[in-house]
Amino acid sequence: MAILKNNLPIGFFDSGVGGLTVLKEVKRLMPNENFIYFGDTLHVPYGDKTKEQLLEYSKDILTFFEEKKCKAVVMACNTTSSTIYEDIKDKYSFKIYPIVQTVAKVLANTSIDRLGIFATKATISSNAYQNEIAKYNSNMKVFGQHCPEWVKIVENNTSERAESIEIIKNDLNLMLRNNPQKIVLGCTHYPFLLPVLTKFAPKELFIDPAKYFAQAINTDLTLAGLTNDNSSEHTEEFYVSSEPDKFKNSAKMFYEIEQTVNLLNF
Ligand code: DGL
Repeated sequence: MAILKNNLPIGFFDSGVGGLTVLKEVKRLMPNENFIYFGDTLHVPYGDKTKEQLLEYSKDILTFFEEKKCKAVVMACNTTSSTIYEDIKDKYSFKIYPIVQTVAKVLANTSIDRLGIFATKATISSNAYQNEIAKYNSNMKVFGQHCPEWVKIVENNTSERAESIEIIKNDLNLMLRNNPQKIVLGCTHYPFLLPVLTKFAPKELFIDPAKYFAQAINTDLTLAGLTNDNSSEHTEEFYVSSEPDKFKNSAKMFYEIEQTVNLLNF
């Protein structure tokens, strides 16, 4: 007899609170699903790590999701999607949904001519957004820019400090010189900074990839017959590899976590 997979959880992982921007959108579209979130706060920032380090961290996290019997896993991290997704995509019992590849495909089919990408050093150096977009659209001009301080600002919840605002404003001004029609917040931490970014540029300029991503995974899991239609049962679990209280506190401005955040060391 086939095992009923529909009510099994969807796993999410990122280096810290950033992936909550993706979880929030997926939950909005798929409210009946059960979710497990893992924030690798011990190793944040991922954007400065080598490919070997990221492979090592993701192995433990994905094994944990296998033990939890996840039916699908969201690589809610642009950095790992850009650097290690291709190496690990077929190694597990569940399908892995990478944010960069999923979103680049949607962006490539828009009428945008000049697209800015804000992302981590690893994502920008990989050229993953450019390469993925070019597979479907060779006319779009893509301008990548690394924002070295932004992840730290979000994890430490210091976006309201004057020095943080100055850093964000300067990075934004640098990008605006390219005259982009839209700017993708190509690191899951960056949508936390929208209240600051929108002090200096219109809200419509920025794209939070989470919305596109949520639509894509919803469509794919529906087509695969894997969505959970049982609305009476719905769970969320949160795990981090260090400082659960700091995680809960930094998450606050974007995502209210009611549950206990569990500390998990592999
Ligand atoms: N939020 C992740 C991303 O989307 C990683 C950020 C980091 O830890 O450097 O790239």
